[in-house]
Amino acid sequence: MSKVNAGPAGALRIAPSILSADFGSLSSGIVTVDGETDWLHVDVMDGHFVPNLTIGPPVVKSLRKYSEKFFDCHLMMTEPGKYLEAFAKAGADGCTVHVEVGGTRELLSQCRDLGLRVGLAANPDTPFSAVEPFLEEIDLLLLMTVFPGFGGQSFIADVMPKVRAAREAVDARGLAVDIEVDGGIDTTTAPIAVGEGANVLVAGNAIFGQENPLHAAAILRAAAATAA
Ligand code: DX5
Ligand code: ZN
Repeated sequence: MSKVNAGPAGALRIAPSILSADFGSLSSGIVTVDGETDWLHVDVMDGHFVPNLTIGPPVVKSLRKYSEKFFDCHLMMTEPGKYLEAFAKAGADGCTVHVEVGGTRELLSQCRDLGLRVGLAANPDTPFSAVEPFLEEIDLLLLMTVFPGFGGQSFIADVMPKVRAAREAVDARGLAVDIEVDGGIDTTTAPIAVGEGANVLVAGNAIFGQENPLHAAAILRAAAATAA
């Protein structure tokens, strides 16, 4: 299956998290925000790696019909390797696995072999040193700014030095790696994260939790652009 191009690494991207959308009308939710967003962030939770359950490949497959955006699938799963192929077949464009689950090198190469854009995620309390050895093997580094599991949590500013360290390492090595932040991103925190070097902003509540999600996405992008 052909994959959607993610666009140039390092460019500012707004990625709405469908976790905060109405699961009863996901297709209309994603169509609503299409004009002001870049990627679609799909939160997959297995009830084991995180204490919550969400969606899997069949939903990705159904949503594919309604969006031509890059599907950025965030796999909060203890055993993502069992499902990577199913996500790739369902229409995921990129899959991000968590470094905390182990077996990272093998998972990353499995993603690559499936034609997926390759992402690696780290929880707020996971040090940069845990992901640094993999920078040359990935396209995206996701630095969680909340502990994963639920939308609508507060941004953990203590993660910002890690974002800065990641940006410096990526730039110093001339790597084409996106740095994504996820959790508590809103018009106040987006410019902070971008100022530290993040370029992909995941936002659930700040987009789908608002009365006008399309307008909220535009406001978020404008706020991010004010970063120092
Ligand atoms: C957290 C998820 C996030 C979450 C973001 O477990 O990975 O993508 O939905 O939601 P907000 O933006 O509401 O913090
Ligand atoms: Zn996520």
